[in-house]
Amino acid sequence: MREIVVSLSEGRSYRVFIGPSLFLRDDWLQEIPFPSRRGVILTNDLLKVLHAERVQRFFVQRGYAVDVVAVPDGEEHKNLATVEKVYHRLLALDLDRKSFILALGGGVITDLAGFVASTFLRGIAYYQIPTSLLAQVDSSVGGKTGVNLEEGKNLVGTFYQPSGVFIDLSFLETLPEREYREGLAEVAKTAFLEGKDFTTFLLEHAEDILGRKGTVLEEVVARSIAFKKAVVEKDEREGGLRSILNYGHTIGHALEKAMGYGVLRHGEAVSVGMRGEAFLACALGIGTEEVYAIQKTVLEKLGLPLRVPQKINLNAFFSALWRDKKREGQKVRCTLLADLGKPVTGVEVEKAAILKVLPEICEVEG
Ligand code: NAD
Ligand code: GLY
Repeated sequence: MREIVVSLSEGRSYRVFIGPSLFLRDDWLQEIPFPSRRGVILTNDLLKVLHAERVQRFFVQRGYAVDVVAVPDGEEHKNLATVEKVYHRLLALDLDRKSFILALGGGVITDLAGFVASTFLRGIAYYQIPTSLLAQVDSSVGGKTGVNLEEGKNLVGTFYQPSGVFIDLSFLETLPEREYREGLAEVAKTAFLEGKDFTTFLLEHAEDILGRKGTVLEEVVARSIAFKKAVVEKDEREGGLRSILNYGHTIGHALEKAMGYGVLRHGEAVSVGMRGEAFLACALGIGTEEVYAIQKTVLEKLGLPLRVPQKINLNAFFSALWRDKKREGQKVRCTLLADLGKPVTGVEVEKAAILKVLPEICEVEG
């Protein structure tokens, strides 16, 4: 079992425990502060069947009163309507300001539960129990919470840190292959940002990573969290440095939205986005051919896409990139890599440069 402590300003901190089967042992539990013994597991319909009972039993056997509240599975339910339904359920269950939420799920649940916890009764404690690889390596740590609006993803949210993060790697056994691989895109992103060490580790262990081998997986998750912790500790509210975590996301998000959510999964879009942004870095004289080639090899070895599988409508792509029509024609700001481990933030990129990237990553409609 690994333990990582996230230390923030004003003496705030929380522990992250990572292990092959955390919910089969409890030596870590006494390290975690709980405001009371009353809480709920907030999860989705699928994970309620797969894993909630195990987590509920674990807490109940240790003297906690824990109910399960499930929302429908899927990004399309990460919205304010779902949040409101959850508030009503929590009130019906008599939760008070000392109660807590255990968020059991992928990134949709970790974001949604964090948002509910930050607003219900003006804020109650919550703990992350991430079950997807993406949530285990990224969304469970750092306190970004949020829901989607019709206009776009994560447009309403808060910064609200969890009081603990419990990462049980055995949950990954039931994660479908496509979802597992998309988590690997965020791992690759972290490795490129961290530097040669982690990137080489991924290259050398790609087969075991794809095979979900325990010890390698624990190392991958721990390294990813250690990197994110270091960034969040320096820049909790994304005043600057934290924006490096958006590497690959500028082009990735625009592709995801232009194709219609659900066609390309988020991690797949980020993988293609990193490919595009690596090309952009070379074209703008910021990055090198060598770094471009290494990123390609890593993404390929991890079974991640380098191009999108269907034609892209240019108008849809650019209006997603500028976020709204009024900003059309302006420059977009990107994080690019000068080298592995050397991100450059806030690079302003013009439409003409993006137009040169597109043939590298997709076919353009018309
Ligand atoms: P997700 O939560 O939709 O999970 C993907 C699918 O896998 C879902 O159907 C889910 O039910 C299922 N699943 C999860 N764990 C499983 C398991 N152990 N076994 C079987 N099925 C399982 O998607 P995701 O990729 O985990 O997360 C994407 C979300 O995360 C997006 O909404 C994104 O905005 C958010 N995100 C947030 C941050 C942050 O810092 N807050 C960072 C990255 C992404
Ligand atoms: N995943 C981006 C962030 O946490 O800032």
